[in-house]
Amino acid sequence: MALTLGIETSCDETSVAVVEDGRRILSNVVHSQVELHREFGGVVPELAARDHLERLPRILDLALEGAGAKPADIDQVAVTRGPGLAGCLLVGLGVGEGLAAAWSKRITGVNHLWGHIYAALLSRPDLEPPLLGLVVSGAHSDLVRMPAHGRFEVIGRTRDDAAGEAFDKAARMLGLGYPGGPALDRLARTGDARRQPLPRPSLPGLEYSFSGLKTALLYRLRDLGEAASAQEKADLAASFEQSVVESLLEKLDRALDLPMSGEVARRAGGEVHQEVVVCGGVAANTLLRRRAAEVVAGRARLTMPPLDLCTDNAAMIAAAGFFNSTLGDGQESGSLQVDPSLGWG
Ligand code: KG4
Ligand code: ZN
Repeated sequence: MALTLGIETSCDETSVAVVEDGRRILSNVVHSQVELHREFGGVVPELAARDHLERLPRILDLALEGAGAKPADIDQVAVTRGPGLAGCLLVGLGVGEGLAAAWSKRITGVNHLWGHIYAALLSRPDLEPPLLGLVVSGAHSDLVRMPAHGRFEVIGRTRDDAAGEAFDKAARMLGLGYPGGPALDRLARTGDARRQPLPRPSLPGLEYSFSGLKTALLYRLRDLGEAASAQEKADLAASFEQSVVESLLEKLDRALDLPMSGEVARRAGGEVHQEVVVCGGVAANTLLRRRAAEVVAGRARLTMPPLDLCTDNAAMIAAAGFFNSTLGDGQESGSLQVDPSLGWG
């Protein structure tokens, strides 16, 4: 039995978790900075970094306490090293390295994007790659194939805004404030998309684009002006959400039909994907969850992490760190670097 202590501070959640053998969550303490940033209408990087630094010691105590573990019980530390806000990543990495040095433990730097996929492995203990993933967060809308642990092939991405970013901006236009995605989700539940049709983005291949849709919403709101009723806004929220969700799933649907080749196919023992993962903060969206289940049904097995594992958390970082340090990617304390623009690698 190996215990991994995970640390996540890439954006506006401060989180520490203890995970057993990369699969079983013993504790996963998450502090959201929503209240801190609300008055600014978005994340203020300097405030975020300082808040991570102030809160990490207490959150670490709570995570160890919740897991019933002492520092001596921890086998390794796993910390997000990118992508994310530079100052925020530095805080997590600095604290992680300090702990690893003080406790004489190994430390592994974790790719946050990989973490989102591992959230699915935490939620289904028998789930193993190869798999097809749709990772939708504040900064990414990526379709990836994962042939094996620590191996990723990006087959689709966005040309402009990520899905979460599009939801956040649309929410702002609709006067919903920050954080936008969850607020838009709630408002959309009271609206009817058919009353305010918006275009559905459609690019060839597996590429996404949400900037045209965003502009369409802006113009529609401008036309309605001050007179826009609460119902019209709810209808627009529903319509915007529907366009984003259907666009995301149209490409997932297409990717599912694409035969796999090479290593992915060999490891899958055939040419079709049997496992699909939809994850990242936007995978908390009500309509996306319902429609993804319909689109994938009968063709592959779909795993969507529970809501608290879709949004940023340290358990997914611990899981990704566990599986990838056993592959030999563990790094010595003192040699880790943050990489704010880290890609899939
Ligand atoms: O993965 P995540 O927590 O942080 C990043 O790595 O970016 O994703 C945050 C994004 C935000 O854009 C947020 O608005 C969006 O996920 N989000 C949602 C919902 N919950 C969070 N978008 C739509 N509907 C939701 N229920
Ligand atoms: Zn994230």
